[in-house]
Amino acid sequence: MKAIKGLVLSGGAGTRLRPLTYTAAKQLVPVANKPILYYVIENLVSAGIDDIGVIISPETGDDIKNTLGSGSEWGVKIQYILQDKPLGLAHAVKVSRGYLEDSPFVMYLGDNLIGCGIKEFINKLHETSSNAVILLKPVPNPSSFGVAQIDDGGKIVRLMEKPENPPSNLALVGVYVFDPSIHEAIDSIKPSARGELEITDAIQRLVDDKKKVYSHTIKEWWLDTGKKDDLLAANSVVLDDLIERRLNGEIDEDSTVSGRVQLDKGARVIDSVIRGPVTIGRDTVIKNSFIGPFTSIGSNVSIERAAMENCVILDNVTVSHIERLEDSIIGKNARVHKNHRRHNALRLMIGDDSDVEL
Ligand code: G1P
Repeated sequence: MKAIKGLVLSGGAGTRLRPLTYTAAKQLVPVANKPILYYVIENLVSAGIDDIGVIISPETGDDIKNTLGSGSEWGVKIQYILQDKPLGLAHAVKVSRGYLEDSPFVMYLGDNLIGCGIKEFINKLHETSSNAVILLKPVPNPSSFGVAQIDDGGKIVRLMEKPENPPSNLALVGVYVFDPSIHEAIDSIKPSARGELEITDAIQRLVDDKKKVYSHTIKEWWLDTGKKDDLLAANSVVLDDLIERRLNGEIDEDSTVSGRVQLDKGARVIDSVIRGPVTIGRDTVIKNSFIGPFTSIGSNVSIERAAMENCVILDNVTVSHIERLEDSIIGKNARVHKNHRRHNALRLMIGDDSDVEL
């Protein structure tokens, strides 16, 4: 059996995460101060995969390339494959055919985060002599995903992409293990109603052709970070799971920093209270403020006389004189501040597709 490869899908326009995705690919939006795509690469690397193809789009491809580089940071080889039109996940596999050759591979959607390793699922492909391994997770809104109907023995009966009347609450997680028979299945499917070649249809084809598709329902968390609330949820889950107390910045004697707080080099906390889990990036200054649990603050941020909780603040942001900020995402270089001269009036300069809740 050939060595298994990784195929990371990192194209798409990220329309559901606008305005953040005007300036960055959705896979590069940070969760707990680390781009989502890093978690994906690291999960593949920890499963022993050292040959990874990354699918990119013309719009954000350069950004992705500049961020991940050659893979040397992880001791692996990363190659880039251009998908020039967003014609679906199965189409992405089609354009990667030359790279994949006839190796088995893990296909991993670059905006999916899961709370477990994937080695076990790769092993299942061989152990159960399957042609594909898919992961499922019960969700409250199955219509937003690919959905699987399974019988009492766990065998797949049917797979459907974003069905109006879902036959179950089991969503397809964006991590799949395939052997080369997926290519033939992809060659025989037609574009869906949304005009895309769906990987869900290709897996259904495997089932129809009596190939073996093994499914595993995961107990760990799974987050598809494509939308604002999902991003906030991902941020709190990851902070809760992964952040350790590590204080590399400066804290003055009038401040209290409690719980699991990560403070990067050059960051300064002045006369403030910070309650973890919280992560604060390089050279950020927090002054006369309260930073509550589940908040990620990027690098070079200035926060003064403000209180916040459950927020994601990207790099180079300024927040000042804000009584309370909750469940908010503030994009790069933004300024959020109170104007003292006009007490009750709001003065806003809001970018396209912003969402302001007052
Ligand atoms: C894609 C797949 C869907 C899967 C989901 C997981 O949906 O088509 O089957 O459940 O990823 O994130 P998309 O993100 O393209 O809407």
